[in-house]
Amino acid sequence: MIKNILDNELLQKEDIIKLLCAEGDEKKLLFEKANEIKIREVGRKVYFRGLIEFSNICSKNCYYCGIRKDNKNVKRFNLNDKDILDAAKFSFENNYGSVVLQAGETESSAFTKRIENLLKEIKKLSRGTLGITLSLGEQSRETYQRWFDAGAHRYLLRIESSNEELYKKIHPNNNKHNFQRRLACLDDLKSIGYQNGTGVMIGLPFQTTEILAEDLIFMKERDIDMVGMGPYIEHKGTPLWEYRNELLPIKERFDLALKMIATLRIYMKDINIAAATALQAIDPLGREKAVKIGANVIMPNITPGLYRNDYSLYENKPCVDEEPEECKHCLDVKIKLADAEIGYGEWGDSKHYFNRMSPGTKNRNL
Ligand code: 5AD
Ligand code: SF4
Ligand code: FES
Repeated sequence: MIKNILDNELLQKEDIIKLLCAEGDEKKLLFEKANEIKIREVGRKVYFRGLIEFSNICSKNCYYCGIRKDNKNVKRFNLNDKDILDAAKFSFENNYGSVVLQAGETESSAFTKRIENLLKEIKKLSRGTLGITLSLGEQSRETYQRWFDAGAHRYLLRIESSNEELYKKIHPNNNKHNFQRRLACLDDLKSIGYQNGTGVMIGLPFQTTEILAEDLIFMKERDIDMVGMGPYIEHKGTPLWEYRNELLPIKERFDLALKMIATLRIYMKDINIAAATALQAIDPLGREKAVKIGANVIMPNITPGLYRNDYSLYENKPCVDEEPEECKHCLDVKIKLADAEIGYGEWGDSKHYFNRMSPGTKNRNL
């Protein structure tokens, strides 16, 4: 019975699997419990991270991703520093509290230096008040350290799947796509002192419910502070397109993603959970639905309009025709409908991070 499982303090793998399979009234119970725990543990507020997708140039070839290196149908772009800083200024002026710098993967000393400089500039233009998350893939420990020292304090590096066999099926088998390296990067980020974020895609070909349950266990075992996970959405220009007929129907994938979020909220009560943009690609209210059942972070896209269309990791990416200003108004309305409020001007850091660093201290808010 789901009810008994939900009353249990510690979830076992079999319990997690049952929660992920809940339907009808049982699913309702799961969602209600997750919402209750969210409000009790992290509150009703949703924190914004203005997302700047500043370059779609990528040296990798992940089999699922629309901007993979070998997709020749992508118009490549790389925003100049001024455009990036203007977007950060938008976040600052609109009280978003934080920004995320995300791009395809590049490893070079010039890139390390460029980001280091941008971090310092963003701190300067916001008089130290903007929180900064990076999502720039696998890098050397030294690079991570330099970026941390320059002002980044959170890092997102999705494991994509914690199951090594599945990881190998969705990535080329070479040393540029090495599961062990990704784990080592997560270790480095944590030991440097970042709030460490990871996540997985849900509804991948070859993925089972058991693997998804193991993904959640992976997050707990690694003491992750923040999670962003969303449905896998097939893309024509990628090798995994060939398996499109073997996937769960899109609605079910969406539903499974919501159940993953709700279960994770029950399983890791004090972490930050982002409502992934991919949810919104399936359902216009997707992110707000996630907020109702456990998520407490949203990453509104603030990349300048001209380039949004070219950062197409998957089909149907939302908000590509809207300017940041329009998304702001749209979100104001939708978040209220989700019975939540926006933590304007706050960092909204992961409580889990502070609890694990020094148990008993309170969340640091600006
Ligand atoms: N569907 C859903 N998410 C995707 N990502 C990349 N391609 C897809 C896709 N086709 C996600 C990956 C990556 C993040 C930036 O976007 O999880 O880590
Ligand atoms: Fe590059 Fe990231 Fe896409 Fe992989 S998922 S191809 S690393 S942008
Ligand atoms: Fe972008 Fe609604 S959030 S249009």
